[in-house]
Amino acid sequence: MGNVGILGVGSYVPEKTVTNFDMEKILDTSDEWIRTRTGIIERRFADDKQTTSDLAAIAAKRAIEDAGISPEDIGLIIVGTNSPDMRYPATACLVQDKIGAKNAAAFDLQAGCPGWIFATTVGAQFVKTGMYKYVLTIGAEVITRMMDKTDRYTYVLFGDGAGATVLGNVEEGGFKSFELYADGSLAEYLTLPAGGSRLPFSQEVLDKRLHYTKMNGREVFKFSVREIGRISKNVMDKAGLKPDDIRWFIPHQANIRIIDAGMKRLGIPKEKVVVTIDKYGNSSAASIPIALDEIYREGKLKKGDNVLMVSFGAGMTSGAFVVEWSK
Ligand code: ACO
Repeated sequence: MGNVGILGVGSYVPEKTVTNFDMEKILDTSDEWIRTRTGIIERRFADDKQTTSDLAAIAAKRAIEDAGISPEDIGLIIVGTNSPDMRYPATACLVQDKIGAKNAAAFDLQAGCPGWIFATTVGAQFVKTGMYKYVLTIGAEVITRMMDKTDRYTYVLFGDGAGATVLGNVEEGGFKSFELYADGSLAEYLTLPAGGSRLPFSQEVLDKRLHYTKMNGREVFKFSVREIGRISKNVMDKAGLKPDDIRWFIPHQANIRIIDAGMKRLGIPKEKVVVTIDKYGNSSAASIPIALDEIYREGKLKKGDNVLMVSFGAGMTSGAFVVEWSK
């Protein structure tokens, strides 16, 4: 068994663009506040009829085509999402059907915004053991539907989208180190309280708007800055690499101030950091594979480049890995 790497990548963002000026029309907010406090200028919203599995399926088809294989070759599909089509069945099963991956097992993985990092880490282990030759890992969200239109604190931050990768054996390069982390004692910082076993739907849930995301932004901010630095350093140490050895840093796109503070702690120059938050806002588990696909399509990723991807989010969780690009 050889190394495991990324054989194909693809992404999709919905056409509908919502600018900060559009937000000004519905909320007590301003373009100036959103831009300076978060770095967001606009974000994409899914069409009313589009679901998370629709976005995921488009990204998945693009990644499979890029890998030069067919959907029937996929052995396993893992979808990292916080906004599944339904509570069950798994969105991954719906994607399996939509792309015709009839030989694949499929399940969802919920790990907050690091969902795609967790899914890819898990998927890579299955390739490494030889259980599956090709694993499709997806980060996909229609997360804007989990947000309260009347809450300026959360509604302005998020956007929809999907990114996908095909994992398999590579002759050179591939994954060099992984790290996953969770601290459930901080779970209350970021929740969607209702709709599960703790608080099933009721009139009271609707009246109190508990079917929407609740966030302690300041605590999430502190956790995120700490984790970007800590977990990125750990994956570099594990791989025997220094910041100078990394060509591209792709952090989760939650807030430009989180990215800047985290990268400053690590001593990473801005030219190496991939930023898409201005265009797409926080697309949760989709943000990193979308950013990866963008630099790949723009021809910026070269064979042999070390790429460090790092994310943090609800759980609270964080995750990171280093992959040497092998395409
Ligand atoms: N427009 C205008 N004013 C606003 C807005 C808005 N959209 N949102 C908040 N404010 C106000 C607040 O009410 C507050 O006013 P006050 O001082 O009169 O009370 C003021 O702005 C400052 O509020 P802070 O909370 O101090 O603002 P902060 O600079 O911390 O920015 C933010 C808030 C953007 C939410 C920040 O804390 C943040 O980005 N946190 C991390 C959030 C995050 O990344 N979440 C996703 C994690 S990933 C996942 O798993 C989904």
